[in-house]
Amino acid sequence: MITRRKFLHNSGLATTALLMNQLPAFGQAPAVKALTLDPNALVKFVDPLPIPPTMQPNEHRASPANPAVRVPYYKLGMRPFEMKVHRDLKATRMWGFGSQTPGPTFDIRSGQEILVEWANELPDKHFLPIDHNLGGAGKDQPEVRTVVHLHGGKAPPDSDGYPEDWITPGKSVVYHYPNKQYAAMLWYHDHAMGINRLNIYAGLFGVYLIRDSVEDSLNLPSGKYEIPLALSDGSFTPESQLFYPVSDKVNAPWVPEVFGDGILVNGKLFPYFEVASRKYRFRVLNASNGRFYHLSFEKGASFYQIGTDQGLLPAPISLKALMLAPGERVDLVVDFSDHRGEEMILKSEALTIMQFRVAHEKMMDTSSLPATLRPVPKIPESQAVKTRLLSLDEYQNRVAEPVLMLLNGTYWHQPVTEKPVLNTTEIWTLINPTDDSHPIHLHLVRFQILDRRRFDVPLYMSKRELRFTGELVPPDSSEAGWKDTVRAQPGMVTRIIVHFEGYAGRYVWHCHILEHEDNEMMRPYEVVAEAALEAPGGTAFAAG
Ligand code: C2O
Ligand code: CU
Ligand code: CU
Repeated sequence: MITRRKFLHNSGLATTALLMNQLPAFGQAPAVKALTLDPNALVKFVDPLPIPPTMQPNEHRASPANPAVRVPYYKLGMRPFEMKVHRDLKATRMWGFGSQTPGPTFDIRSGQEILVEWANELPDKHFLPIDHNLGGAGKDQPEVRTVVHLHGGKAPPDSDGYPEDWITPGKSVVYHYPNKQYAAMLWYHDHAMGINRLNIYAGLFGVYLIRDSVEDSLNLPSGKYEIPLALSDGSFTPESQLFYPVSDKVNAPWVPEVFGDGILVNGKLFPYFEVASRKYRFRVLNASNGRFYHLSFEKGASFYQIGTDQGLLPAPISLKALMLAPGERVDLVVDFSDHRGEEMILKSEALTIMQFRVAHEKMMDTSSLPATLRPVPKIPESQAVKTRLLSLDEYQNRVAEPVLMLLNGTYWHQPVTEKPVLNTTEIWTLINPTDDSHPIHLHLVRFQILDRRRFDVPLYMSKRELRFTGELVPPDSSEAGWKDTVRAQPGMVTRIIVHFEGYAGRYVWHCHILEHEDNEMMRPYEVVAEAALEAPGGTAFAAG
């Protein structure tokens, strides 16, 4: 099915419209001159895949939970820097954690609490186009604001990176991560109100791995055979600078979706990676603003998926292609021993991503791919104490351009409506009458996908009446594990089941298409402590 978005994107219409409106008014419009360079004209596979360094603690400090315990203390600055995204391009100005993008990788044991000082060392002026009409990004606000969220982390509310808890250049804040959760690939990224899409596009994200003894016992490929692949995308000017598209409205530059012309893997366009003929484990992250990847090898080689957003699957599944929406992660094992001497290209539909060069020599491989990994017991529906019907809404102007997205018809600043009680289970029913798939993410928690089902969209739009027109569709096997981000598919109702545990307090849920998130497709939610129910007004804080 071709959606409006795909059509615009594939046809290049969006870009053409943009070009026409961006041209300076020299009386006569000059011949259309490219504002962005075509990455496909670059020589492919000339840069080795960069692997971000592992973050090391600076010192040890007293734990906020128990001052007698000293815990690792890390300091990480967000800074401007320049980096070559391709051998034949000039250096690109970016913003990154520790002067690189992706930032350094955290590699932490489950249950090992840590402190991280996030320091905003950026300049006072933004280099990407701020839209001051968006909530929280008004002209009265500082241009450069950052707040770090650990996506997938079960963190206390004051360390979760609430979008309004931003800091300005020169300031820093210390967050506390207890890491009491399963081995999984999390990621950290900016979450500042109204400009988060620009900050992440500028490069402000990195990988955060949690490990535990269950994972250890599996003997999966590790060390130099375990590689993070952070996918993001970017468009570049002929001067090799990041280009973020704007609308044709001078004072309202926000655009509903952004797809870069090039795909960056760990910050490089079309990198190559030399691999031994053995098993590798790839931790793949979609850090793109709006692009959904449909990953496969050019010649159709199969690979194994062993994990989802929040950790290991019950058993490996063999795949030839895989969907990955913004915010989602996937844990893969590829056995290159079947491909000695080959050059394998990883792609997303027609887009080339990177190349693997498999060594010719045979290699001894002592790692395993066990037939069973970690049980994922199904949360019974009967455990849910509440079901919430939540709509995903898109509002268009007269010429059918999306201008606003809301969750359940409410703006960010309206009173909190989702208040689950700590240690209870709820079903969230996401009703999506729009033409787009929206990857919906909840902070703090992990959840399971129950099912999806088609419904009568016109009836819903006219009368807000829900009538199903299709059968229940169970989640794909590749998403039948612990998740924190779910694709709410167009024209479908998607149901998730969530146990709210960990901490009481204020968190957020939102669409992970960053342009949507920045334009009201984000809402606060509040986990209410059981005790707080009896004593309203008391401070709601409970450690889990
Ligand atoms: Cu990955 Cu609220 O974000
Ligand atoms: Cu998150
Ligand atoms: Cu969305």
